[in-house]
This record gives sequence, structure tokens and C-alpha cells, in this order.
Amino acid sequence: MTVFIDRIIPQVGLDLLDEAGLAYEQHTEPRELDLQELIERCQHHDALLTAGSLPINKDFIQACKQLKVISLLSVGYDRVDVQTATKWKIPIGNTPDVLSEATADTAFLLMLAVSRKALYLHKKIVKGEWGFSQPTDDLGFSLQGKTLGVFGLGNIGYVLAKKAKAAFDMPIIYHNRSHNEQAEQTLGAQKVSFDDLVQRSDVLVAFSSLTPETKDKFNKEIFTKMKPSAIFINASRGAVHNETDLIEALEKGMIWGAGLDVTNPEPMQTDNPLLNMANVAVFPHIGSNTIEARNGMASIAARNVIAALNEQPLLHIVNPEVYQQHQR
Ligand code: DGY
Repeated sequence: MTVFIDRIIPQVGLDLLDEAGLAYEQHTEPRELDLQELIERCQHHDALLTAGSLPINKDFIQACKQLKVISLLSVGYDRVDVQTATKWKIPIGNTPDVLSEATADTAFLLMLAVSRKALYLHKKIVKGEWGFSQPTDDLGFSLQGKTLGVFGLGNIGYVLAKKAKAAFDMPIIYHNRSHNEQAEQTLGAQKVSFDDLVQRSDVLVAFSSLTPETKDKFNKEIFTKMKPSAIFINASRGAVHNETDLIEALEKGMIWGAGLDVTNPEPMQTDNPLLNMANVAVFPHIGSNTIEARNGMASIAARNVIAALNEQPLLHIVNPEVYQQHQR
């Protein structure tokens, strides 16, 4: 049994595969394989452990249907055609929980960076523009007591809400399909309608996964309804906001600021006007970029591979329906 790994992953994951007696081929060049290359590599293996960004689409799955598992080094699985994988009884593994702290911290950092114009002011120093300033110049605002609204309050949203409550005593409102009992009981979080969330949040953070329902969810119509003093943060997937509408909303003062860990497209082009706005902070999709999170993700992704190749259930699976069908 052999494994193809499409990027360099933390050693802990490789050690686990070694201990399990699994050989692997790892793509270590600093470039993304194209779809055809990925197919050619994977056709010779039993498992794919993937940290790349290529769509794992119908063409790929049909060409590589001998795979016994596709193990993602991510919690998000929007790049996978889950329906086709399920049809071919290929389990899809993902890595939830271990990145919740890191991703919540990224959103927390964005909240602060935007509210204090931190990245913009840093750039001013770099450009030699730290000169005379009036006491009224470049003011940000305090987060103390401001309302945090979370769109998609799951594990990551809960960690952020807990930190925001502890640090700035922020009241928490959220919009989910179901109640988050833990957030309601421990943080006094209040479940509200989507319209309420949009209209009442001082800081509105999107953590929802990308689905047909959440694609372009934050668009001009929604930005118009937000407070002109509000900050929009996206730490989920870039396609959850409409970037052209976001630029317009900021330029016209429909909202005060924005913090993005994810953009649409990625990477963001260097001439994107968002990069020059004082009240905007953009990060290059670093939500899970901590040693702790990445080690945890590599460990789960490797253990998902090992489980599947031993005909055991995955630790974390996206499509448990594969187990309800006759096994291959
Ligand atoms: C995730 O795990 O989904 C992060 O966004 C990294 O892709």
C-alpha cells in the first residue's frame, strides 16, 4: 500500500506513515501539480494525502477511483466533489478541531489590525512616512463592549467568541441553522436572524463553510444593511464575499473596515485596491499557520490514511455515507 502526498507536510505525519509501514511519494517542488500530473501520480498509489489547492473534481476522481482514501490536510472540503467520491465509495478525511485556536486567533488578529489600522500604519513607516502627525490623525476605534456577530458559529467561532468576550467583553450574536448550546450557555451568545446579525454587528465575522448557499453571501445588498461603523472579517473562504462589492462598500463608506484571511481569487493580485486602504488588513490565507495546528493536521491526515488502508473508519470523515454502502 502506498500514499501520494502533494505538498511538503510536517514530519509528524510522515513518521506516522513510516511507523505504519506505508511507503509514500511526496511532491516537494515549490509548485502546484496540474490536474493531469496529479492524476498520473495518484494512479500508482492507494491513497492521496492532499494539502494542495487543486479541485479534486469528477475528472480526477473518475481517473483515480482505485484510491482507498482522499485525506485532506484541511478542515474545509469545498474543493472536493464529495458526491462523486461517495459514488465511488472513496472516503474523504478532513482535519477539524486541531486548527480552531489558530484560525480563531487569525480572526482576532484581523479584528485588532483593522480597528487600529495596524497594517496600513506599518506600511507608512516602511515608506518613510512616519513624520509629523496631529492627535486626530489615523484614529482607530476600541473593540471594548462592541457587538461581535458570527456567521457560522461552530468550533472556530466558539473559540473566537470566547476570546472576544474575555478580552473586550463583547456581546456575542450569531446566525446558524442550529443552536450552539455551548456558546449560549457559557458566553450568553444569542442566536439571531441573518438580517439581525448584519444590522446589529459591530464586527461581523464569517466562518461558514463554502456551499452554494454561502457563495457570494456577503454582497452589496448585505453591506448596505451593515452599520457604517462596522468591520467585516472573512476567515472562511474567499468566495463567501463578493470582492468587487466589498471594495465598493469600503470606498462608499457602507462599512468602516474589512479584514480578510481569504480572498477571491487567491492569491490576491498586487494591484487590488483593498491593499491600499487604511481600514483594511489582508493576510494570505494563514488561518492554520501555526506549528501546533499544522502538526495536529498532519497527524490526523496521516491517521486517516492509515485507518482507511487498514479498512478501519476514518477519525474524521466528510462522507460517512460510504460506510453505509457495500465496501469495495
Ligand atoms: C482549512 O483547513 O480549511 C484551512 O482553510 C486551510 O485550507
